[in-house]
Amino acid sequence: MNSAQETPFIETKEYRQFAEFCAICDSEKRIGICYGPPGVGKTLSAKKLAGWDSARDTTYYVNRYPTKTKVSTLTSILLYTAQVANSPAQVKQSIDKLRDRVRSIHIDDFDMTARPELDEIESKMAAIRAMQARRGLSTRAFKELQALTQSAYSLRRRLEAQRVKIVDPTSLIIVDEADRLKDTSLEQVRDIYDRGDIGLVLIGMPGIEKRLARYPQLYSRVGLVHRFRKISDEEMRLVLADTWQPGGIDLRNRGLSDPAILAEIYRITDGNFRTLHRLVAEIARLVDLNHLRRVTTELIEIARDGLVIGVD
Ligand SMILES: Nc1ncnc2c1ncn2[C@@H]1O[C@H](COP(=O)(O)OP(=O)(O)OP(=O)(O)O)[C@@H](O)[C@H]1O
Ligand SMILES: [Mg+2]
Repeated sequence: MNSAQETPFIETKEYRQFAEFCAICDSEKRIGICYGPPGVGKTLSAKKLAGWDSARDTTYYVNRYPTKTKVSTLTSILLYTAQVANSPAQVKQSIDKLRDRVRSIHIDDFDMTARPELDEIESKMAAIRAMQARRGLSTRAFKELQALTQSAYSLRRRLEAQRVKIVDPTSLIIVDEADRLKDTSLEQVRDIYDRGDIGLVLIGMPGIEKRLARYPQLYSRVGLVHRFRKISDEEMRLVLADTWQPGGIDLRNRGLSDPAILAEIYRITDGNFRTLHRLVAEIARLVDLNHLRRVTTELIEIARDGLVIGVD
């Protein structure tokens, strides 16, 4: 299957609703549960929200910040994917590691903002030294160099003092695959929530909200529950009319916008984004392989038969 990274992320209605839900958990520091069937886009939406733009690390996702943004305006959403086998200690360690990374990103951002001032002083000092090498040092230049050395020193100290004050900026932790968390690991997550001034979103399959209801200590803290829905027929049409082209072939002028074709695709995929991705990629493959000009309902059936489409 083509990886999701090859096709653009589409900001669907479901994504926007998920983002709003997370924003409430974030700003009000609440626990939210988000559940939805497989393949509807929960993980991809969480990655998008956390700003992760690479698939290098499959376990940890941290915000990527535009380097010019001021620290005070950076929000910090952290995405942690629960490991298949998990213990409370592992969960804590992984989340701590992520929080360190978020902090170091903020420190880098601070350094980027602070650096030009220091660079300017240093380049003036370098210019004076270069002149000194050629013509010797005049009293005026010597005094100037002294003053600049002093300014650089105080600036470095001031920056260092500010840098150590940058505390963990995490404001929201999203836990993906939360169904995997064992009771004791759930307890650990609750403890992390209780200790910090943060929001928490647990993502899982339908049924997770019922399972969590059995843990009064955690459940009593749950403020919001959100259902991540399948994409609607209408939404699917918008996605297919967009630049989303799994398989790398633009099928929009080859019959993919035909109502009968769209209806057939929706019938087969039933709002499952993963299946939609696979089916359209397979159609594109067949179109390319057989040099076809148009997508037909027969072709869709062949593409479907070529895939193992689950019941989800
Ligand atoms: N907003 C989107 N834009 C583009 N493609 C998407 C989007 N949402 C989902 N997809 C496609 O659907 C696939 C499945 O998405 P994702 O892995 O996020 O589903 P999920 O709900 O987390 O499923 P699971 O419950 O199995 O973990 C993605 O790999 C991608 O191909
Ligand atoms: Mg997922």
